[in-house]
Amino acid sequence: MEIIRSVAAMRAWRRQAGKLAFVPTMGNLHEGHLALVEAAHQHADKVVVSIFVNRLQFGQGEDFDAYPRTFESDCAKLEAAGVDALFFPTEQELYPRVKQDFNVEPPHIQDELCGAFRPGHFRGVATVVSKLFNIVQPDVACFGKKDFQQLHVIKAMVDDLNIPVAVIPVDTGRAEDGLALSSRNGYLTAEERAEAPRLYRNLSAMRAVLLAGDSDYATLEAKASADLQQAGWVVDYVEVRQADTLEVAHAGEKRLVVLAAARLGRTRLIDNVEVSR
Ligand code: PAJ
Repeated sequence: MEIIRSVAAMRAWRRQAGKLAFVPTMGNLHEGHLALVEAAHQHADKVVVSIFVNRLQFGQGEDFDAYPRTFESDCAKLEAAGVDALFFPTEQELYPRVKQDFNVEPPHIQDELCGAFRPGHFRGVATVVSKLFNIVQPDVACFGKKDFQQLHVIKAMVDDLNIPVAVIPVDTGRAEDGLALSSRNGYLTAEERAEAPRLYRNLSAMRAVLLAGDSDYATLEAKASADLQQAGWVVDYVEVRQADTLEVAHAGEKRLVVLAAARLGRTRLIDNVEVSR
C-alpha cells in the first residue's frame, strides 16, 4: 500500500489508477470502516482511503485533541484489506493558510438534527470532502449510513455542484449487541459500554411500531427519549424524518428514517434505522 502525504503526489498517483473508489475517514479504523473498503473494491479497480482528522468539523469544546490517532494499526488494517493507497496529509498540507477562506455551505439541513447541536459541523464536513474529492478525483466514494445526515449532505452537495463522483451508501456495521461501531465507542467506560446498546434497542422498537402502521411520531419519539433519560442518558434528539429528503415526516409517510443522538457520560453516540412500509 502506497502512503501518500502530499496533494501533488496524490494527484500524480490518481492519474495512473484507472477506475478509482475512495473512502474518506478520520482514522481509528474499525469493521464499519472496513465494510466501506470492501464496498469500494466492488465498484472500482483501485481503492484509496484517506485519514485526516478535520479540525474544521469539530466545534469549540469538542474532542478534536482527544480524537484517537492510531496510524500504525490503521495502516495494518488497510494493508490487510487490500487498499492500494492511503492519503494521509498533514494539516499544513490540507489547510496551508490555516484558515479555510472558501467553504461549502450546506442548506438548512445543516442546522437541524445533529447540526442543531454541532454548529458548523456539516459545513466543515462538506468543505473537507469537496477538497478531498478535488484532490483524489475518484469515480466513486463510499459513505456509511451510520452518519445518515452526513451521507445526505454529501449526496446533496454532489448533486447540486455537479461533482462527478458517484456516492455509494454502505449499511451500518454493528457489534453483536447492536451498538453501531464508532471510533467514539472507545471513550465509553465498561459500565457505559454495557448500557450503550439501549440506543439501538429503542430505535429498533420504534421501527417495529412504525412498520405496524403507527404514525404518531411525536409520541414514539417522546417514549424513546424518556426511556433513555431514565437510564441516565442526555438526549439531544430522537426524530422520525423522511428517509429520502430528511424533511419532517408526515403521517402515513412510506420511507422513514428514525435518527437519534444522545450522550452517555462524556460520549455522544448517534444511530439511525430506516423504515420502508
Ligand atoms: P469517520 O467517522 O472516520 O467515518 C468515515 C466513514 O466511515 C464515514 O462514511 C462513516 O459514515 C463511516 N462509518 C463509521 N462508522 C460506521 C459504521 N459503524 N458502519 C458503517 N459505516 C461507518 O465521517 C467521517 O469520518 C468524517 O466526517 C469524514 C467524512 C471523513 C470527513 O472528515
